[in-house]
Amino acid sequence: MFSKFRNLIFKIDPEIAHNLAIKSLQFKFVPNFFDDNKNNPMFETKLFGKKLDNPIGLAAGFDKNAEVYNSIFKLGFGFVEVGTITPLKQYGNTKPRIFRLVEDKALINRLGFNNLGAENVSSRIRSNKPSGLIGVNLGPNKDTQDRLNDYLIGLRLFHDIADYITINISSPNTENLREFHEKSKFDELMTLIFNEKEKLNSDVPIVVKISPDIKEDQIEKISSILINHKVGAVIVSNTTEATRENLKDISRHQKGGLSGKPLELKSNLLIKKFYNFLNGKIDIIGVGGIDSGKSAYDKFLAGASFLQLYTGMVYQGPNIVSKIKKELKQILVDKKIKNFKEIIGKDDY
Ligand SMILES: Cc1cc2nc3c(=O)[nH]c(=O)nc-3n(C[C@H](O)[C@H](O)[C@H](O)COP(=O)(O)O)c2cc1C
Repeated sequence: MFSKFRNLIFKIDPEIAHNLAIKSLQFKFVPNFFDDNKNNPMFETKLFGKKLDNPIGLAAGFDKNAEVYNSIFKLGFGFVEVGTITPLKQYGNTKPRIFRLVEDKALINRLGFNNLGAENVSSRIRSNKPSGLIGVNLGPNKDTQDRLNDYLIGLRLFHDIADYITINISSPNTENLREFHEKSKFDELMTLIFNEKEKLNSDVPIVVKISPDIKEDQIEKISSILINHKVGAVIVSNTTEATRENLKDISRHQKGGLSGKPLELKSNLLIKKFYNFLNGKIDIIGVGGIDSGKSAYDKFLAGASFLQLYTGMVYQGPNIVSKIKKELKQILVDKKIKNFKEIIGKDDY
């Protein structure tokens, strides 16, 4: 059903298609499909003390301005991450800035944190109570003089309305942002964030979103800083600048971050490495190329306790969560597994 509709949508420029999707969700045009795995104990879990229907969340970048999260919950997502939000409104890079790589089931984007700004988004969330768990993803403005302070501005505006705050240090589309992965810079950023949290007397969990392009020796260093600061969870991963050689689509050399299928394995390998260093002390939210029960299953085996997706929904359509649950249920039933949590990090299944 969606595949016919998809041919039409794919004739439209990707960013216009995205804006149309947001508009229709704003008007609550939520397709009404039957989800026979709603409240299925096989997928029940808790994130930061809150019960979720399932561990599959919508990744940052889709609902950048927190306009449609309540419609997204109706599509079956277990949680939603809005943003990235910067202190000031920002246009982002020049268009076109999203490319579909249909043959590769991938996207490349170089949006550059286009968003309406923190004040605007925070007042929208305040006036529209989320019906499920929402995370707010924060980043700095492109032209800011003080990137560290930009994260603190976001924290002050969202700490009392978000179920968690994501510190995004991994977008490839804001120059040098990924330098925050360096040990001393990362530690400084975390120290400032946690000091500010204390000043605010806030218990909002802090989550960090990591780049898949970090060097091998950075994984252990980052892991120990995450543990020292008692970070709430780590998201692995954002889009990649690498992995272009084996792609087929003519848009493969567009500048920007690559998401979807070509990112899947790279992200799974990184999750595995983080899982080993984190040793169960910090949960991993696994992201990158999830579009089926099998791909969700592989992320759990690698060590993710929760999942997020974006590109999969572009290719598979709005009922992707019920599709994934259906396929995953079959895998779990075949292996006599009662709840997906049993397989987290169990690579030998
Ligand atoms: C068009 C687009 C915009 C994105 N914008 C953001 C963003 O603003 N902040 C962020 O942390 N990640 C952003 N991402 C990255 C996704 O959240 C996710 O980490 C990445 O796409 C990998 O997941 P996927 O393969 O399921 O898409 C964006 C991805 C896409 C495709």
